[in-house]
Amino acid sequence: MVIKSQNKLNIPITELEQSAFCQDGTNFRTKTLEEEFKSGVRWQKIPTRYLKLSPQEIKTSIQKVKKSLGEKVIILGHHYQREDVIEFSDIQGDSFLLSKLASETKDAEIIIFCGVHFMAETAEILSSPNQKVILPNMAAGCSMADMASSNDVVRSWKQINEMLSSKSSKKPVIPVTYMNSAASIKSLCGENEGIVCTSSNANQAFEWAYKRGERILFIPDQHLGRNTAVKFGIKKSEMVIWDPYKSNGGLSKDELENSKIILWKGHCSVHTRFSVDQIKKAKEEYPDVNILVHPECTNEVVSKADYVGSTEYIKNMVHNAPSGSSWAIGTEINLVKRLAHTYKDKNVFCLDEMICPCSTMYRVHPAYLLWVLEGLVAGYVINQIKVEKEVQKFSKLSLQRMLDLPNN
Ligand code: 13P
Ligand code: SF4
Repeated sequence: MVIKSQNKLNIPITELEQSAFCQDGTNFRTKTLEEEFKSGVRWQKIPTRYLKLSPQEIKTSIQKVKKSLGEKVIILGHHYQREDVIEFSDIQGDSFLLSKLASETKDAEIIIFCGVHFMAETAEILSSPNQKVILPNMAAGCSMADMASSNDVVRSWKQINEMLSSKSSKKPVIPVTYMNSAASIKSLCGENEGIVCTSSNANQAFEWAYKRGERILFIPDQHLGRNTAVKFGIKKSEMVIWDPYKSNGGLSKDELENSKIILWKGHCSVHTRFSVDQIKKAKEEYPDVNILVHPECTNEVVSKADYVGSTEYIKNMVHNAPSGSSWAIGTEINLVKRLAHTYKDKNVFCLDEMICPCSTMYRVHPAYLLWVLEGLVAGYVINQIKVEKEVQKFSKLSLQRMLDLPNN
């Protein structure tokens, strides 16, 4: 039996909500849902009996229910999930690895995606028709993905094409969307000879796109777009920002014609907290420290870092680092804390002294995981992710182009 499908709660996440869980680090532990509800962020409604369960009661129940469901269910966990959720994941990874796994996992009937909405949606697109994908908390969106609404992207794509003229055999512009975007935007890319990328294959995707077009429209993260374009030798003067709230994106025809990349005005509120001052401070304290950051950080930060890469890359760098080495990391705190805990022989710390988890990832409280697991035992599929057929068709095409990139 399937409960009426629920779409993502249609509430864009605000910057204020994104910082709702920021704290000084002394009290970074899972509390009862009732206590966490006081944070001021919006949560998906859940039956009241889950509100007062202690983290230990939840843990014991998840262990029991998960065991009873056996191999019928696979739990995927993104690296940014809190420890009390990640411990139940069968596989952990970055958004690329997990989407690849979703396309390869054929045995499990149910995929529970502990991550955010765009990740679960991608798993639904890439998994087999007989599989069902569940997101434990439908309010777990992504504030960056919300900065590119489907309507704005469709309208902007039309305007950009009207403003540009064709000057060679190549297309004037190729749409490239970051994985952190709605399925409808991936679909627009699929339909218009574009591609999806993640932070682990943006270089290959850019290479692919520049073979086909004069320029790229990169949606929605201006920082990943800029950081990747810099590696292609594109000058700052050839990078323009498209602001969907301004007429013609705030650009003249000439500015658009002279560009090599059009960056959508979007950013990650978690990664743009990292600063050059924090890097200076880390270096003063530990002169031999390695600065390792995610490419969603600003270009000022990325250009001062020693290493830049996806969450999986960050994990592997620390794993392979020699004992005694120091690592100041610019990415989400749950991953940094996990690495520091796992590699106690290395000095691993977050560049930002303030503890600021990604508040949308954090909404996957273990009580939500228990709720959807208990639903399955009772014969209900709670929070099933569904993607319209037409959107599914073209988004799958742009995702497949990404999966087919060389050196993935
Ligand atoms: P990865 O692709 O590195 O997993 O990152 C996803 C994400 O949301 C980073 O903010
Ligand atoms: Fe979105 Fe940033 Fe959270 Fe990643 S860390 S899910 S980009 S808000």
